[in-house]
Amino acid sequence: MPTRRDLHFSLPAARVGDWHDQGRHVSHFFNALSLFFPDGERFFIHAVRHYRAQIAEPQLQQAVTAFIGQEAMHGREHTECNAMLDEAGLPGARLQRFVFRFTEFMKRVLPKSSQLSVTIALEHLTAIMANSLLQDSRVVGEAEPHFARLWRWHALEETEHKAVAYDVWATVMGRNPLRYLQRCIGLITASLVFWPLVTIFMWQLTRADAGARAERGGWRRTLRFLFVNPGPLRRATGEWFDYFKPGFHPWQHDNREYLGGIEPLLRDLDAGALARAA
Ligand SMILES: [Fe+2]
Ligand SMILES: [Fe+2]
Repeated sequence: MPTRRDLHFSLPAARVGDWHDQGRHVSHFFNALSLFFPDGERFFIHAVRHYRAQIAEPQLQQAVTAFIGQEAMHGREHTECNAMLDEAGLPGARLQRFVFRFTEFMKRVLPKSSQLSVTIALEHLTAIMANSLLQDSRVVGEAEPHFARLWRWHALEETEHKAVAYDVWATVMGRNPLRYLQRCIGLITASLVFWPLVTIFMWQLTRADAGARAERGGWRRTLRFLFVNPGPLRRATGEWFDYFKPGFHPWQHDNREYLGGIEPLLRDLDAGALARAA
């Protein structure tokens, strides 16, 4: 059962453009993802809420409440991070406005079932990326510690709630070939739209950032980081394909062992808060 946690990360604003140990381009890859979260996650909440009344099982109802709570907290903390991009003279607000308009457009034109199919597809993408982050400490382990904690926390909670939207889908849609097809189309479409947009966002951020413009081989380093060493996206590829199995369920990738990382993270945050108060 996921738990809503109201946490703050006290991110150092001055580091927003270079918080990752692999340099400014890799930092802006993560910053580009961050720009999608607040409105993207509001869209997920909207899609799941629509079907909420059709869920009879109290445990799933409770999980939906926790899912909504967690996504709302992620949105709040990433909004704070995104505002720092503007303080640094980068086009965070402009790019986030695009995500807002895009999600509002999807709410207007897509049938509710397609909104949920896109939601479970993007939740799958976040879950497999979260797994890659938790699996290998090099993904954010050497980064500026406050930013690293934000990303670890998000990855841990994405893991905790990775099956909630999917279980809502399975409950309200049932198992039939048409729904299976709709689920598969959801992942293909979501992936084809999401990754080019992330790349464009990263390009916009690096282009606006004088420090990134001066960085040599930043794109090459980002590609090497993502696909070779430590290669979080390469590692996630197999799991991406598993989604197309007719009997797929997110917990078939059983990575609950990482959830043990939540307690140390909370202790770490407490210690930080105590240090600030002292
Ligand atoms: Fe989230
Ligand atoms: Fe999520």
